[in-house]
Amino acid sequence: MAPASAHAFRNDKMMKPIKVGLLGIGTVGAGTFEVLRRNQEEIRRRAGRGIEIVMVADLNVERARELTHGQCEVVADANLVVDHPDIDIVIELIGGYGIAKTLVMKAIANGKHVVTANKALLALHGNELFKAAQDRGVMIAFEAAVAGGIPIIKALREGLTANRIQWIAGIINGTTNFILSEMRDKGIDFDTALKDAQRLGYAEADPTFDIEGIDAAHKATIMAAIAFGIPVQFERAYVEGITQLQATDLRYAEQLGYRIKLLGITRRTPKGIELRVHPTLIPSSRLIANVEGAMNAVLVQGDAVGATLYYGKGAGAEPTASAVIADLVDITRLATADPEHRVPHLAFQPDAMIDTPILPMSEVTTGYYLRMHVADKLGVLADVTRILADSTISIDAMLQKEPAEGEQQTDIIMLTHQTQEKNVDAAIARIEALPTVVGKVTRIRLEELS
Ligand code: HSE
Repeated sequence: MAPASAHAFRNDKMMKPIKVGLLGIGTVGAGTFEVLRRNQEEIRRRAGRGIEIVMVADLNVERARELTHGQCEVVADANLVVDHPDIDIVIELIGGYGIAKTLVMKAIANGKHVVTANKALLALHGNELFKAAQDRGVMIAFEAAVAGGIPIIKALREGLTANRIQWIAGIINGTTNFILSEMRDKGIDFDTALKDAQRLGYAEADPTFDIEGIDAAHKATIMAAIAFGIPVQFERAYVEGITQLQATDLRYAEQLGYRIKLLGITRRTPKGIELRVHPTLIPSSRLIANVEGAMNAVLVQGDAVGATLYYGKGAGAEPTASAVIADLVDITRLATADPEHRVPHLAFQPDAMIDTPILPMSEVTTGYYLRMHVADKLGVLADVTRILADSTISIDAMLQKEPAEGEQQTDIIMLTHQTQEKNVDAAIARIEALPTVVGKVTRIRLEELS
């Protein structure tokens, strides 16, 4: 039994709710307010005390008042929240790394814990923010920053803590997964699928961060840090989006038994860490290959547990609110623990981080899908296979299409065994220089994920 004094302290805490200030009440903010309100009793029983949003800052004060039904103070100036002496936790849902960074730093300096869904902020400035939080003895929690409602941060940081993580491969951007599903199902091109996604509200008016792979790279950067105990290093990530993908390649991949997904991949190798986002062929038989529409999924390979797969909604009001509130509950439970006895921000103790290098893309090892448009002439295939052999690239499968009626050119598609990217770069340059090869060689990376 707990000593009487500890018991009294606990009772006191039970009575006094923890006070939360919310910066930005857009989709996720409104979802957070609503889920906290709806499930408050259940959440209180789990957290050990009530959790109340007492102040909201949003430039659209009127809308914020409507969404909060007069149940808390609404202000336009976010500084009033981060400076308020009664607020214990600040939820940052503004996004970006301008004002959001200033406000988070100020909240930390004021001794407030921070919950954020801001992957861009953490992927670019996480090292500085975590250091500031550590020095000030406060927590930054960010479950909502990666894969929305899927508790992947918790899984990596706590559930899999016994493991040496070997690799992670995730569909961590719903917008691009929706577009790829549409391209495959309907045989439409990228531009049409993007317009459909925008019309249906799956893609932003400015979809750059999603379609260029930047959003996925922010998330992969955060997962790499937690998986391997390295600092966040977004600037070293290889980032390639889906804008150049053609429906033809999705079809050919299908004929070879693969699907193309935008994967965020991070892998431990003897020479360093791979950190990359790019369209990837994966065998159609893998569970993750069948994750369709705007859903997210993350596959984690640990040395003890083997492969584990996490699936769910990566965006949306209540799925993301689910992650934000889980962080609020975690902080509420841990707030009274000594800082050194809390779960470390990046899973490893700050003084146990290591500086294993992130490998340049030329050093990455993977399989490849190569499509080339060639003149249908004797010896073309022999020339291509000789070049691949010269670069020590072994062919795994091949598909040669019949030239269309009246055409003199056709497509050759090859799947290679694993090789280093620099070998493929060299081979592609030589293949493109052949007089019988028309235009550029299409290269898509391939992972068996076995
Ligand atoms: N824009 C992201 C996506 C959701 O499409 O998955 C927020 O990270």
